[in-house]
Amino acid sequence: MVLAAGAGTRMRSSRPKVLHELAGRPLLEWVLETARSLGPDEIRVVTGVGGGEIRSRFGESGIRFVDQPEPLGTAHALGLAVVDVTGDPSVLVLYGDVPLLEADDCKRLLEAVEQPALTLLTMERMDPCGYGRIIRDEHGQVRRVVEEADLSDDTMRAIREVNTGILACSGQLLTRLLPRIGKRNAQGEFYLTDLVEEAFRDGVPVHTRLLRCPEKAQGVNSASDLATAERILQTRLAGALMRQGVRIRDPARFDLRGSVEAASDVELDVGVILEGRIRLGPGVRIGPYSILRDVSLGEGTEVLSHCVLEGVETGNHVRIGPFARIRSSTRLHHHVRIGNFVEVKNSRLGESSKANHLAYIGDAEIGDDVNLGAGVITVNYDGAEKHVTVIEDGVFVGCDSQLIAPVRLGHGSFIAAGTTVVRDTPPDQLTLSRNDQKNIPHWKRPGKKS
Ligand code: UD1
Ligand code: CA
Repeated sequence: MVLAAGAGTRMRSSRPKVLHELAGRPLLEWVLETARSLGPDEIRVVTGVGGGEIRSRFGESGIRFVDQPEPLGTAHALGLAVVDVTGDPSVLVLYGDVPLLEADDCKRLLEAVEQPALTLLTMERMDPCGYGRIIRDEHGQVRRVVEEADLSDDTMRAIREVNTGILACSGQLLTRLLPRIGKRNAQGEFYLTDLVEEAFRDGVPVHTRLLRCPEKAQGVNSASDLATAERILQTRLAGALMRQGVRIRDPARFDLRGSVEAASDVELDVGVILEGRIRLGPGVRIGPYSILRDVSLGEGTEVLSHCVLEGVETGNHVRIGPFARIRSSTRLHHHVRIGNFVEVKNSRLGESSKANHLAYIGDAEIGDDVNLGAGVITVNYDGAEKHVTVIEDGVFVGCDSQLIAPVRLGHGSFIAAGTTVVRDTPPDQLTLSRNDQKNIPHWKRPGKKS
């Protein structure tokens, strides 16, 4: 049972809390992934505020959604979810805003469900503020959980053992005890945590499992919590990559929002952001502050600093950047060079072709060994439609030339600097379109009137 119907007031956002993203995926998606990996008979998610949006995002995934029309509290939410539970299944309760928990932590908790006990996952935090405190009696027995808003004294406030929100319990026990929970507390809500007192009153044993690594139960209530959770998760993701041998210059300045397949000897400098599906061949190096989304780079390829690449596939030993932008469906073959302030879109560059400075290459089919000078522009858009520029092998395009598409530059064409190419060029010829140069003798440069 996943509780995700809270108002999320503390986020101060119009977006439902569980749709805020961690490492590029909604909080709820992380929780559901953990839930699914346990192989449950059923997953139910309680939604309320923003429920429509949540359902349309996760509707196809075999989950049963339960509507909580008003966020009256976590006990109320769970009560709605278990209403028609039959038999006596083990129920694991997860919170939609506690996204970093791993399957093993849940398994440990479920294994502890000796019917009809209640088992809570607790943690010890240096700063327990914001979490429900675990109150034990003189025998160490858990007696109740006191929410932050209901803390009455500093001794309680100082208790460092807190509730993660995650619990396991028999279904029967829940259907029996939940209706007894009232809302006589500071927030006037039906607290699920009051289940502990109810269980105790009924003589049902309450056990706890201590989460060894409290970071995993970081809750997300505010923008600041979200940032904390993001860093925890990123550290985990970077750690996994480093264990595979990826060299990350500074894991505190690395962000992954997708999946990476990395070969050996890959190096990522500081501030690299990887999104979507990323494949990095052996020896690939990514320079500082580059952003890659859905990119596949061949062996020995180097992306220098401050590049933005999206939808790019390269061969081996390609060099890109610094300050290059390459987007959607671009394929760069072996040894291609793309330099600073070059934009490439939906194009193919053949082996060893180069555009080293200040160029726009859009919708172009470029052969091998082509050299595009500084300031070359494929004029692909006529104001209504996009057109293709074809440049055959061995072409040299001089600086500041415009290629008005659709156009084909025959193999070995040599385009002089400053040419506007409006027609196909024949192979192995020089093409130029220029006005003759005039020099004005005895001309005086205007001077300032003093
Ligand atoms: C809750 C726990 C607290 C624990 C903390 C851990 C209660 C009463 N308190 O506090 O002991 O230390 O989590 O992170 O459970 N929700 C609903 N319906 C509601 C209210 C909430 O579905 O009516 C959902 C929320 O969407 C959220 C979860 O339940 O995913 C927890 O609710 P929240 O209000 O964030 O509780 P906390 O104050 O964080
Ligand atoms: Ca919370």
